[in-house]
Amino acid sequence: MEERKGRRIIMFPVPFPGHFNPMIQLAGIFHHRGFSVTILHTSYNFPDPSRYPHFTFRTISHTNEGEDPLSRPETSGMDLVSLIRVLKQTYVESFRETLAAEVSGGDTVCCLVSDAIWGRNTEDAAKEVGVRRLVLRTGGAASFRAFAAFPLLRDKGYFSTLDSRLDGPVIELPPLKVKDLPVVETNDPDELYRIITDMVEGVKSSSGVIWNTFEDLERDQLMDCSSNFHVPFFPIGPFHKHSNDSPPKTKNKEDNEITNWLDKQQPKSVVYASFGSLADVEEKEFLEIACGLRNSEHPFLWVVRPGLVRGTEWLESLPCGFMENIGHKGRIVKWVNQLDVLAHPAVGLFWTHCGWNSTVESICEGVPMICTPCFTDQRVNARYIADVWRVGKVLERSMMDKGEIEQVVRSAMIDEGDGMRDRCLAFKEMADNCLAKNGSSSNYLDKLVRHILSFDS
Ligand code: UDX
Repeated sequence: MEERKGRRIIMFPVPFPGHFNPMIQLAGIFHHRGFSVTILHTSYNFPDPSRYPHFTFRTISHTNEGEDPLSRPETSGMDLVSLIRVLKQTYVESFRETLAAEVSGGDTVCCLVSDAIWGRNTEDAAKEVGVRRLVLRTGGAASFRAFAAFPLLRDKGYFSTLDSRLDGPVIELPPLKVKDLPVVETNDPDELYRIITDMVEGVKSSSGVIWNTFEDLERDQLMDCSSNFHVPFFPIGPFHKHSNDSPPKTKNKEDNEITNWLDKQQPKSVVYASFGSLADVEEKEFLEIACGLRNSEHPFLWVVRPGLVRGTEWLESLPCGFMENIGHKGRIVKWVNQLDVLAHPAVGLFWTHCGWNSTVESICEGVPMICTPCFTDQRVNARYIADVWRVGKVLERSMMDKGEIEQVVRSAMIDEGDGMRDRCLAFKEMADNCLAKNGSSSNYLDKLVRHILSFDS
């Protein structure tokens, strides 16, 4: 590790796993390059700092009158758009104060790295204390290109398109179809529009963008974005594959049980199914998934988060005796260490909602995907996985009945001679190569470090 004594980077993640995980991985990369790291984290979903002993954590409390500032604001039942609105409103003022306090203490603060979703407010706060701000975009460049086109797409009427046109092309953004546009079901589409445009403007006003992607995967999309944004770009992903000096992960009893079960399966025989940390499904869809996985007759490992199935606690809507009938053939768990699961030789297929982290993690392990996107960037990612990189097949949510699931799983599990498995291995190799000496991501990381160090000269 290089020593950069007294140089500190302050990071401000959005408090969802799909955003926190890449931010903490990036923190590990900075730490390995000799920087100290302070994470400013909302009281909402505050992590256990003892799991990350290399970093200093500060809580951003909220300023809601009459509530304990360290409590979690009331958000139950809110859709994603309202939740993000509430988080932005609730925490921005105390972020400003906490940042100011950090900057006035001990070490030289080199820069702030804030999640792009926080938007322009973090720019104002950073300016007030004279600190430069970099943005971490946790999603891919292809989806960002679509977000950046929101004003144009709105003017052209794409967001009010009738169902009959959903399969039509978005001429301005090939290869996207209208149904791939990164929207989310919400009662407040104007607020979604504001969040997205604030994110894009916040990127434009930053001192640079750090991407969890790599050139061989998204070269054209990165170039396209960079020609419209006059800020430096640093595609240094995949973050989780960089060497860093994080302490070895301790495995709990459940992790060990899953590894033992995977160890007993044939190579590339297991279907791993997970829809990330935010998506939810109707009870009816849940039952179709359960029966489809069972009927495929492949061993499966399925993550069902408490809260995944709307209106239920966990598995109570499964038919009586379902798990007993499956026996050792299938496992349903509340959460897994996904990086370990995807890297296990027994895993042959990932049925995913195509969150960007899941997409990158699967690509890095050469695991083909079945794509069932639920909202926002997941739809764009799915189109690229299926039609551009051609490392997966789409199974649309509206088509998710048990017969279709069985059929898609079976066909994705056999090598149909269409080259999909070879392409998966080729991308895995590209991901490895970009992190090797003189690989694109290693070079961009060197540039990023020089860029940060230039801020105080
Ligand atoms: C959210 C958005 O939904 C997604 O569209 C966006 O790209 C990122 O933010 P999420 O839905 O949680 O993310 O999906 P994803 O991006 O795939 O992130 C999930 C993270 O949780 C991954 O890093 C994955 O490894 C981890 N995970 C998931 C686990 O470690 N265990 C699990 O059981 C499930």
